[in-house]
Amino acid sequence: MPISRRLKQAAVVFVVVFAAAQLVRPERANPATDVSRTIQAHAGTATELVAVLDRACRDCHSNGTVWPRYTQVAPLSWLMAYGVREGRKAVNFSEWAAYPPERQRTLLVESCRDVTAIKMPGPYTLLHPQTRLSAQDVETICAAARQAKGDAAGGP
Ligand code: HEC
Repeated sequence: MPISRRLKQAAVVFVVVFAAAQLVRPERANPATDVSRTIQAHAGTATELVAVLDRACRDCHSNGTVWPRYTQVAPLSWLMAYGVREGRKAVNFSEWAAYPPERQRTLLVESCRDVTAIKMPGPYTLLHPQTRLSAQDVETICAAARQAKGDAAGGP
């Protein structure tokens, strides 16, 4: 078979599969948020921390996901829906009050560890440069983790 015919066939298959993929639409819902239960409302939460989390972590770790336009298109729509589902499961800053204090401390410590290792927000920064963290942002998160640990130990 001549190469050009194969290419044409491959192109047709690609277009058909791509179009069919669009029919599988993942849920892109944002659950309702009770403001009093968010980390923003949590007593003692420093405002810089809230600002950093809101800018860099909100899309995957809160109920306030801003679904970018490209997430209408499969397979990116599936990837994003998966990231948001797993992200909210791991930590949801909109449901902060649901975690016992011990768990809140652990999540802050893990956040510090993950942003220091550039594991979070990870490759998302390639598509969303505004989620990239400065050294100061990382320090803000780690300071909150240290403070939470200090509070648990009965003062700094
Ligand atoms: C693109 C989506 C996305 C963004 C943005 C994101 N995360 Fe995550 N995060 C995830 C997913 C998915 C998981 C669960 C799976 C895993 O651990 O990789 C997770 C897990 C976590 C965990 C649980 C512990 C762990 O390592 O598994 C913490 C803590 C965390 N993220 C903190 C953050 C912080 C802090 C930010 C912002 C600086 C952030 N994440 C930004 C998707 C994201």
